Amino acid sequence: TILVLDFGSQTSHLILRRLRSDVRVYAEMLPCTVKLADLPFKPKGIVLSGGPSSVYDQGAPHVDPAVFELGVPILGICYGCQEIAWRINSENVARGEIREYGHADVTIHNDGDSHVNRLFTGLGGTMHAYMSHFDKLVKLPEAFVVVASTKNSEYAGIAHQTKPIYGVQFHPELEHTPRGSEILRNFAVDICGAKPSWVMKDFIQKEIVRIRHLVGDHDQVIGAVSGGVDSTVAAKLMKEAIGDRFHAILVDNGVMRLNECEQVKETLDKHLGINLTVIDGAELFLSRLKGVTEPEKKRKIIGGTFIDLFQEKVRSMEEEAKDKPDAGPIVWLLQGTSVSFRGPSATIKTHHNVGGLPDTLKLKLIEPLREMFKDEVRKFGEELGIHRDLVMRHPFPGPGIAIRILGEVTPERVAIARAADNIFISEIKAAGVYDEMSQAYVAISQDRAVGVQGDARVYGYIAILRAVKTLDFMSAEPYEFDFALLKKISTRIVNEVDGIARVTYDITSKPPGTIEME
Ligand code: XMP
Repeated sequence: TILVLDFGSQTSHLILRRLRSDVRVYAEMLPCTVKLADLPFKPKGIVLSGGPSSVYDQGAPHVDPAVFELGVPILGICYGCQEIAWRINSENVARGEIREYGHADVTIHNDGDSHVNRLFTGLGGTMHAYMSHFDKLVKLPEAFVVVASTKNSEYAGIAHQTKPIYGVQFHPELEHTPRGSEILRNFAVDICGAKPSWVMKDFIQKEIVRIRHLVGDHDQVIGAVSGGVDSTVAAKLMKEAIGDRFHAILVDNGVMRLNECEQVKETLDKHLGINLTVIDGAELFLSRLKGVTEPEKKRKIIGGTFIDLFQEKVRSMEEEAKDKPDAGPIVWLLQGTSVSFRGPSATIKTHHNVGGLPDTLKLKLIEPLREMFKDEVRKFGEELGIHRDLVMRHPFPGPGIAIRILGEVTPERVAIARAADNIFISEIKAAGVYDEMSQAYVAISQDRAVGVQGDARVYGYIAILRAVKTLDFMSAEPYEFDFALLKKISTRIVNEVDGIARVTYDITSKPPGTIEME
């Protein structure tokens, strides 16, 4: 295992991703302040991530000094590199004259094949890299040599003369550093000696053992599921680990897609054998949404109602468990979210998802996917035997189609949005382009427009089709549709869905748009 110690950079997770997906070595990430004595394993190497602080500030985060005494190779990235230098002498790091954000040309000083050059084996001359820093090394730490530099950073890469300690000011984990994976491979495989043979199967086995150990022989675990990839994969993993001591709860909020609740029930219960309870909340949700048009209000009502119903269920299950002497108490809550949706968009929209349950439940958290990316969760799901259709499903927001029905959510408008969305998605699937887009849906407008069907005037809502391509859901581009397909979809929607008069295609990128409408 390579241990990544996280100083809080936005891109720390990408170090893990590169190590696991590109280099194929197993890596785990822990907060930078972790005490090494508490670790259940000895890492083969340690990466110190970037971070937003200044090493010389009071209260800035620092690693356990034992990191430097463990004798394993260390790679510091950005803040991590400054941490290494600052420990040796606090005068080594200071604020630079200019901020350096964006591309930089890094000159590699590959003279000879001594150990100091091993981080850059195979990489000579200059290379593009991504920089994002204000602080920098202003002196070369004692016993180190310079192995890379840029115009603004004389010490953009450093290596200890005798020990396997390296630091880089730039970010090898970012796509904007095209040869970054090679640097991480040089570190993890050549310098640390980690085997590049990690596969998802090993992770599953490891997680199952970890969950069994954590939960013990009696405790019960509860978790909400939505039918989405994350919660289904997490639930299946729990099922494999502890069988029916895991209870999955599906809350029907009345704003899932057409027939979705039944389909999810069928898949989880019948195909995956997960112990599932469905709570029918449709009426309650829709009654609380009556007359509400403001997006944030809608989101809060849905999130709040979900929590109310879930809590009620946990309480009733706790009561039941008391009456059954052989059933252990409900102690754990499964939080099945992956990395993808914990982005800063929470400040733009109040996110609700099935993982976001309050700590008033007094349950301990199990988060098996907390460090996984969507594509990793998908591979993980396939290994667990989950059907490809489900594994490849586009993400679907917790507040469902309520945030795709602009304005008030009424049962009539839910039916219209569902029917239009169903046609759109079926046609995309039939055309074989579903996997080419990251997310697709139909929204309906608040206002109505006039149209003519047959000889009659119609006055109906506008269906707004949206399909985007994105890697990280933080930015997205509209999908470039084949026009004939788009026209076919438009014709079907207007012909088959009563209440729709027009069809438009939303071509807004994110930013400035967002993926969902509200
Ligand atoms: P936006 O609209 O912010 O969406 O560009 C980015 C991604 O997040 C999803 N999304 C949500 N997912 N609960 C969720 O579980 C939510 O409240 C929520 N709001 C947006 C959205 O579908 C897209 O994939």
